[in-house]
Amino acid sequence: MNGLKRGALIVVEGVDRSGKSTQCRKLVESLKARNVNAALVTFPDRTTSTGGLIDKYLKQETHLCDEAIHLMFTANRWEKKAEMERLLKQGVTLVVDRYSYSGIVYSSVKKNMSVKWCQEPENGLLKPDLVLLLVLSEAEMVKRPNYGSEIYENREMQEKVAQAFRDLSEREKWEVVSADGGVEDVHKELLDKVIKKVSQVGTQPLHTLNF
Ligand code: TMP
Ligand code: MG
Repeated sequence: MNGLKRGALIVVEGVDRSGKSTQCRKLVESLKARNVNAALVTFPDRTTSTGGLIDKYLKQETHLCDEAIHLMFTANRWEKKAEMERLLKQGVTLVVDRYSYSGIVYSSVKKNMSVKWCQEPENGLLKPDLVLLLVLSEAEMVKRPNYGSEIYENREMQEKVAQAFRDLSEREKWEVVSADGGVEDVHKELLDKVIKKVSQVGTQPLHTLNF
């Protein structure tokens, strides 16, 4: 890499309404304010051709079988791999709002697809340097009842997803951060961990996912 420091690949995961999108935006702003070159990446990216189909599926305007929508979400990440790799190698830190773990968790709780089956097509995508899981307590989840009308935005699905994220975070030894606090408190905690990671990755090679 000619001595050039690469950016860090930071992923933020969690259930719907855990504040991920707000926190990801704030992380990029704070990194830039500290002169760290940073950009936001969001999955699903609803602007691409697969993203358009995913958007229709989520809004329940079109039907796809569980296997097909799973592979669409994965394809939506594959479409962005080359661009993400280029940016990272140019020194840009990427803050990613959802990634392969959302793909695996949301699909595998449906029961007709095994975790192993769900993981397979994710292999070969870029491996995050840091995964931050935002978790909501039961009490806080009850206080945030206003789900939207997208297909997975219901209590039953979200509870299954929350449990699957917790199980995965234990296996993968992720950083788990409580999302119960105020926006600024949660931001401070996340930023601290992100800044540490950005300073560590430097000249380390990028790896790929290998479940
Ligand atoms: P969003 O709320 O972050 O825009 O994501 C839309 C929904 O898509 C959300 O309920 C989580 C779900 N999802 C998957 O099922 N698989 C995936 O791979 C991703 C990225 C999101
Ligand atoms: Mg959502």
